[in-house]
Amino acid sequence: MLERRADGFYVEDVALDRIADDVGTPAWVYSSAAITSRLMRLQAAFAGFDHRICFSVKANSNLSILKLFRDAGAGFDIVSGGELERVLAVEAVPETIIFSGVGKRIDEVDFALKVGIGCFNVESAAELDRLAARAALLGRVAPVSLRINPDIDARTHPYISTGLKESKFGIPMSQALDIYRYASRNPALAIHGIDCHIGSQISDREPLLQAFDAMLQLRSELLEAGIPVRHLDLGGGLGIAYQNEPDFDVEGYGAAIARRLRGEDLQVFFEPGRFLVGNSGLLLTRVEYLKPGVTPADRSFAIVDAAMSELIRPALYSAFHEVVPLGPTDQNARVWDVVGPVCESADFLAKDRHLALAQDQLLAILSAGAYGSVQSSNYNTRPRAVEVLVSGTGFKTVRRRETLRELLANERECL
Ligand code: LLP
Repeated sequence: MLERRADGFYVEDVALDRIADDVGTPAWVYSSAAITSRLMRLQAAFAGFDHRICFSVKANSNLSILKLFRDAGAGFDIVSGGELERVLAVEAVPETIIFSGVGKRIDEVDFALKVGIGCFNVESAAELDRLAARAALLGRVAPVSLRINPDIDARTHPYISTGLKESKFGIPMSQALDIYRYASRNPALAIHGIDCHIGSQISDREPLLQAFDAMLQLRSELLEAGIPVRHLDLGGGLGIAYQNEPDFDVEGYGAAIARRLRGEDLQVFFEPGRFLVGNSGLLLTRVEYLKPGVTPADRSFAIVDAAMSELIRPALYSAFHEVVPLGPTDQNARVWDVVGPVCESADFLAKDRHLALAQDQLLAILSAGAYGSVQSSNYNTRPRAVEVLVSGTGFKTVRRRETLRELLANERECL
């Protein structure tokens, strides 16, 4: 999404130094054209079969971005009452909302039942009981899928791998049929589908297709048991390029699903997050100080005004984000660690990068549109950064920079 031109670095037709001058740093910058084109690419890849794309709100829950998705016809995958409030704020169609997550509270279940969401992805028998009881109490029928844990290795980082049997997520395949039978006897529940999500940042479609095959198999067993389902939910997980990895081949994935579906009257749901927004956002930051090493054995540090409190992915998952210095430098390239001001050794954004840097220079930390801002914190009493959405030759602030007054308000009133 970042383009180098003769007179600077651009996102769409907006120069990044213009944004930095206007809103300051650190700042999250998103491209609406990039987001929309990713969604269109997915829609085209899945055009061969009946499908629904539910953007996984946890990846980037900014209201203006949710509105982009809403306007482009996407549904939403939510995991909390808070995320439900967000998608309702952009007038999501209730039918297109699906509710995932292992720990849905009673108030969240009630909220979603009253809204009339499209489906609850249920993760345990206990949750099924709670859902049925609340639906009966409210005089509703809860639409459900069971999230199956197919015990498949998604071959990704252990913290974002969710489909192995040691994971807390989903219902083991061996118990699925019994729990479906149990659910089918309860008039407060309507069985809509089968759900699965085996992990995130998956680069290879094979594990996902294995999960799909497992769901197709279960769907046949359910049919034999007189329990038809109308959709299969493949979750999210499509990986993106952070460094030199190839982008997930969504076209090949779509074609493989279409082949498996031939003639079947089934809708397929997807819950992509990262694929839609990851490469469509960057974190704009400024170098505060340079601390070059003195001897060749020393490390050199570039201390910037963004930190792990903004982008925790490098600290948490050893994630790689490309760092691009924007504009004039002293040309004395050397190997730098790009670090933040937070008092933790884990506070780094990049390590061992060969860069030409200068004090006060702007840097873009790329591929930060997914699990960036949403995972940010106020650690070290750092106000949350501003978010900006670029569209053509213009940009607008889609979340103001938090103020210290706001940050302290909940405590000041308790003094
Ligand atoms: N559906 C469910 C049930 C999920 O748990 C997730 C992500 C998604 C969909 C969307 O997955 P995606 O398409 O974005 O891979 N914080 C981590 C990622 C955690 C993913 C959690 N679940 C990171 O920064 O890499």
